Amino acid sequence: MKTTSKRTGQTPATGQTADLPSSRYGHFSADGTEYCITEPSLPRPWVNIIAGPRLGLAVSQSGSGFTWIDHSQLAVITRWQQDLIRDTSGKFLYVRDPDSGSMWSLSPAPAWTPHDRYLCRHGLGYTTFETECAGIAARWTLFCHPIETAELWRVELANLTDRPRRLEICAYLEWNCGVAPSPRREFTKLFLETSFDAGRGAVFARNHMWEVPSPRYGHWNTEFPYVAALAGTASVGAAQGDKGAFLGRYGYLRSPQALRERAWTPAFGGHEDPIAALRSAVELQPGARHDLGYVLAVASSRPEAEGLLERLTNVAAMDAALQDVRSGWAARLAAHRIETPDPCFDHLVNDWVRYQAISSRLWGRCGYYQQSGAYGFRDQLQDSQVWLTIEPARCRDQINLHAAHQFADGSVYHWWHPLTEQGNVTRMTDDLLWLAFVTANYLKETGDLTILEDVTPLLDDPEPRPLRDHARRAFERVFSRTSPRGLPYIGAGDWNDGLSAVGLRERGESVWLAHFLAGLLRDWAEVLRRAGQADTSVQYEERRRALVQAINRHGWDGGWYIRATLDDGSTLGSAANRVARIFLNAQTWAVLADVAPPERAARCMAAVREHLTSPAGALLLAPAFDQPVPEIGYITRYAPGLRENGGVYTHAATWAIAAACKVRDHELAGRLLTAINPALKDPETYWAEPYVLPGNVDGPDSPHHGRAGWTWYTGSAAWLHRIVSEWVLGVRPEWDGLRIDPCLPPGWARAGMLRPYRDCTYEVRIERSDRLPERATEVTLDGERLKDNLIAPPCKAGAHHRVHVRCR
Ligand code: GLC
Repeated sequence: MKTTSKRTGQTPATGQTADLPSSRYGHFSADGTEYCITEPSLPRPWVNIIAGPRLGLAVSQSGSGFTWIDHSQLAVITRWQQDLIRDTSGKFLYVRDPDSGSMWSLSPAPAWTPHDRYLCRHGLGYTTFETECAGIAARWTLFCHPIETAELWRVELANLTDRPRRLEICAYLEWNCGVAPSPRREFTKLFLETSFDAGRGAVFARNHMWEVPSPRYGHWNTEFPYVAALAGTASVGAAQGDKGAFLGRYGYLRSPQALRERAWTPAFGGHEDPIAALRSAVELQPGARHDLGYVLAVASSRPEAEGLLERLTNVAAMDAALQDVRSGWAARLAAHRIETPDPCFDHLVNDWVRYQAISSRLWGRCGYYQQSGAYGFRDQLQDSQVWLTIEPARCRDQINLHAAHQFADGSVYHWWHPLTEQGNVTRMTDDLLWLAFVTANYLKETGDLTILEDVTPLLDDPEPRPLRDHARRAFERVFSRTSPRGLPYIGAGDWNDGLSAVGLRERGESVWLAHFLAGLLRDWAEVLRRAGQADTSVQYEERRRALVQAINRHGWDGGWYIRATLDDGSTLGSAANRVARIFLNAQTWAVLADVAPPERAARCMAAVREHLTSPAGALLLAPAFDQPVPEIGYITRYAPGLRENGGVYTHAATWAIAAACKVRDHELAGRLLTAINPALKDPETYWAEPYVLPGNVDGPDSPHHGRAGWTWYTGSAAWLHRIVSEWVLGVRPEWDGLRIDPCLPPGWARAGMLRPYRDCTYEVRIERSDRLPERATEVTLDGERLKDNLIAPPCKAGAHHRVHVRCR
């Protein structure tokens, strides 16, 4: 495995180990659960998305970022500007020494005074800045309380000099308390009201106008349903509520005028540019340490916000909460672990991508590149599969949440906003089917058919309906939108949003959607049979047969499957095209859904190898569109090689790994896996975080081939974990048990997994044996050889089983 990152020896101060890759910008901690950034001037912000089920924050290595509650777009508490180049916008802590006049911040931004020592540790659920400046060591940790709706800042200051020091520490943030980003700040600020409660040392903020329609009182006529407050543990010497007064005329965050002023003239109320600034004096004897903290509390009323401040504004409560955050993440991720010869890969899969999927995609629904807050119908359903092995009830809740966002005709919102329940109605054709997809996977994992009887209403019919009825409606809608050739219409796009005009007139067909549907019909024929609906089960089997035939008759291009047909009948993803001659998903899903007969499976995967494999991962299509084509959609409007237009779209690139495993191409699976591993990249080319997955990496048609972007907010995180577990290590739930079918990359001699499955725990040890014949796998369960490599339940609840696997 060739890596461009250099590897260095142990650095005791930061816990770095020789085993994990590092670069000149940082390294993993020894236990892999922290990424330690040592140089703040990165090619792009490397961030942490720290969220609980309700409150969350984004913070980069510069210290910039913001806080939201319940919705990272509609209920944004603090202001932030999405400017990834300057990255100097957010909530900050300044320190000033009034005796010397020197001033700095406890993160690089906003003062950008060079620190004598700088370390930013992004961990699971927290970020810590460790700095030294002017003889003062500081440690600032930001995190969300694990239960309460409050962001906590734990701060430690230490005097490293041999003289007593007087310091002023000043917390600063700008209130947003509403929809963000707001293009109309001068309008929206007119409704914000701040106040300073001297007794509590707290600034409170509320907004009398929330830019969402009120069902009762119309537009711009509803109250923001939260009250926010900032308070600190140190007694407040001065407070300010007006940004103009704080910065000074044409002043700037780098060096606010107020920090140089002895007395402040506080300005709170409804007539300012609302901020919260709290200044406290701290005295430190030589060698002494001082503990303090801040609470940013958000609640539905002022008394509740006050209650949060009372409970949490003390360092003991904060330390206990931080401990709970850390142990909470460790416990959440403990039951299912993989082990391979590459410890860095293990941390990525066990810890980081699951944290990414849960914190950023499911709870926060936010990234630095995308402030969303909405639920994408297909997106969070797929993400929720991350819960299947550890807390399947949460996946079930997600399924039911999405079921309740379906219309009676089977269609669904493409996305919807929680809080306001506004949704986007589109002619996208796959969204509705993901409900059935994730339900089938829930059933394979749990075997619990009672989920089919869970009831939720439809958007346009309040009567509660069982999940099986929601799934039936989705299938029937797709069946009714089938072309005369027997392929589903593509409408305004299928999984690929950017194919937004291919089938607007409902003539264009989707071959990928056909594969997807064929796989679902295979699974749902089984679901229905188990649920006692034998007749429908047989119908689904027949439909599948016809569909597979139609795909293989009309979708095969000679060397691979085409992607779609346009409304005018022309083909997309054919060797006859000038650009976009081959699409990844049309090949990988032909394999995954058992549509391709073996000879075609081999050929289309050979085409993937030849045309779509790049050192950055599997490309979504090639070659890229080089000019806008309105009849195809906005995918053609991206610059060539960017995102879906010929880049590595990581979400789809993970499916290619599964397909390579399914055709037992160890080499390709290993190569694609290595290619998307962010920890192995050279940051000068790759730019993005080494510890989480990016949405995309530029493809060869971009001048910046290999440059990553859109980190955190990507469906690939949950998928990578799932595919590594189920296809690479090959421990895969099927209807009647756990299938053991590994496909290890060539360099791995062994691997292992600890995994719960239906009340029991399985400890799987996998060894490669070159003495076995090609494709052979031998499995023993608690010492007894299994005939068909299927571990079948039932097993005694709580039992711990040992599985030993020898494979080729
Ligand atoms: C974005 C969308 C996702 C879609 C993908 C490919 O990530 O959120 O739903 O499948 O793009 O277009």
